Amino acid sequence: VFDHPAFDDHEQVVFCSDAETGLRAIIAIHDTRLGPALGGCRMWAYGSSGEAVTDALRLSRGMTYKNSLAGLDLGGGKSVIIGDPGRDKTPALLAAFGRHVETLGGRYTTAEDVGISTEDMEQVATATSHARGTPATGLGDPSPYTALGILSGIKAALAHRTGSDEIAGRRIVLQGLGHVGWHLADLLAKEKARLVVADVDASTAERAEAAFGAERAEADSAHRIEADVFAPCALGAGLNARTIPELGAGIVAGAANNQLATEADGERLMARGVLYAPDYAINAGGVISIALSKPGGDDTAVMERVTAIGETLRQIFVRADADGLPTDVVADAIARERLERAGARADPL
Ligand code: NAI
Repeated sequence: VFDHPAFDDHEQVVFCSDAETGLRAIIAIHDTRLGPALGGCRMWAYGSSGEAVTDALRLSRGMTYKNSLAGLDLGGGKSVIIGDPGRDKTPALLAAFGRHVETLGGRYTTAEDVGISTEDMEQVATATSHARGTPATGLGDPSPYTALGILSGIKAALAHRTGSDEIAGRRIVLQGLGHVGWHLADLLAKEKARLVVADVDASTAERAEAAFGAERAEADSAHRIEADVFAPCALGAGLNARTIPELGAGIVAGAANNQLATEADGERLMARGVLYAPDYAINAGGVISIALSKPGGDDTAVMERVTAIGETLRQIFVRADADGLPTDVVADAIARERLERAGARADPL
């Protein structure tokens, strides 16, 4: 039986290998109705090739929704390289991956993701013109733009909930102070938020405490702290049946991908009266900068588009209230409506 779910949902899935460098990768193109696919490349020590395929299919579908909701004329795709980034990554392997991307003739454009840095993407770009997220193709590291989009989303959520988007004096809990969380803390501190910071890495939390005059909290209980906003900026699945009843903030708005552990958790948040900024709507600043930035440092156009994330969220919140639906369900509906209006798929080669 030919019943693999990819046949129902994905346009094209490519297995890539290179004997010389040991490359094993999968490129998944989910949907190109809005344009050629754009999505990062993840390197991860998957336990099996089946796991890698599942991840590539899930992530590429996610990019279709994210790019659609961000208003980009780009489809959804993603790639995964199977291997331990600390041990198996070599310039030759990255270039071999780039050669595979090049064979797709622009139907898929790659960029950095978990396990793949900006410098790694520069190696990939030695073998393909369809790699972005490097200083040569645009503004480089997308994290500051992701953080800016989160700020804009937090303001939209505050405005919706309280009638004012003023950050000064609001208590905001940041869980995870990595690339995005650190930039976000900086932006919020400049607007005089009362910050609470938490990171599994104690030294990072200590540095943030000192740098931003923040209060420090334990990583595993940060979600319980009473605050105006909880901003998860670490890993996914943090909103689940255990944590949602314990939430101490009325708004959840942060950068982490896949924040809801299951579909039921969007409902759970709504039932608890928590306003949730859907993850892929609020964290699209990075992909917007990757898609639209040009080399040379002028980021005015990108900043405008990233700041518009606030308006997208406002629309989601208003429609969710009107229809009595969870915000994540409304985000999916808006993304799907734009895809359906777009019609035809991009020409295969
Ligand atoms: P990162 O790896 O630089 O930072 C993550 C931070 O979270 C680290 O400081 C880590 O110690 C900390 N952490 C890990 N587990 C934690 C826990 N249980 N509690 C508290 N802290 C914990 O990652 P980055 O780039 O800042 O991304 C953060 C999240 O945002 C990820 O989920 C990522 O997928 C998502 N994202 C990032 C974008 C970007 O532009 N970098 C774009 C869109 C989404």
